[in-house]
Amino acid sequence: MRIALTGVPGTGKTAISYALGKKGFEVIHLNEIVEGKKLWKEVDEFGSKIVNMRKLQLEANRILRGKRNCIVEGHLACDMKLKCDLAIVCRTKPEILERRLRERDYPERKLNGNMLCELLDYCTIRSLDNYKKVYEIETSGSMKKNVEEIMKIIRGRGERFRAGWVNWGKELRKAVRS
Ligand SMILES: Nc1ncnc2c1ncn2[C@@H]1O[C@H](COP(=O)(O)OP(=O)(O)OP(=O)(O)O)[C@@H](O)[C@H]1O
Ligand SMILES: [Mg+2]
Repeated sequence: MRIALTGVPGTGKTAISYALGKKGFEVIHLNEIVEGKKLWKEVDEFGSKIVNMRKLQLEANRILRGKRNCIVEGHLACDMKLKCDLAIVCRTKPEILERRLRERDYPERKLNGNMLCELLDYCTIRSLDNYKKVYEIETSGSMKKNVEEIMKIIRGRGERFRAGWVNWGKELRKAVRS
């Protein structure tokens, strides 16, 4: 089974992928492909690389060819069509995500952009555009529980995690009012 693991920065993709690596999955980090193959030319106002998405998709799919149990992780996975059986989107409660991103010392505007993406379900909506089967897990709490949930999804017993069950409407209204 080949899985795209995506979500807004700070939602825990890399941390979870390491845990899945220990369970025997090969892990592909999209960031490492971007670095290794120099798939960017410019950086944005915050110094983040502007990635050549077409080349990244081509390269990731080339690496995926012939692989069996494999996790491809990165926030950009939601914005392209990887040859994966399903996509799993990591979702984190906005107040917890904000705390994690503040610990990274993100500039305020970059932090707000990422918070908006989480509040507006950006990675879920984009994953639904690009993958046939999309699931969501909530990564605000125990990572061990998240890994068990992913194993359930992989075994075909995770229908309750089908995309659409995470909803930050209450948090969004609060954010709009403040
Ligand atoms: N349930 C959880 N699942 C995943 N990470 C968690 C969880 N609870 C706490 N964390 C912590 O949240 C942080 C998530 O950081 P991580 O680098 O994995 O995010 P990321 O989604 O890969 O971000 P980026 O897109 O910037 O690479 C880690 O410090 C991790 O230990
Ligand atoms: Mg990461």
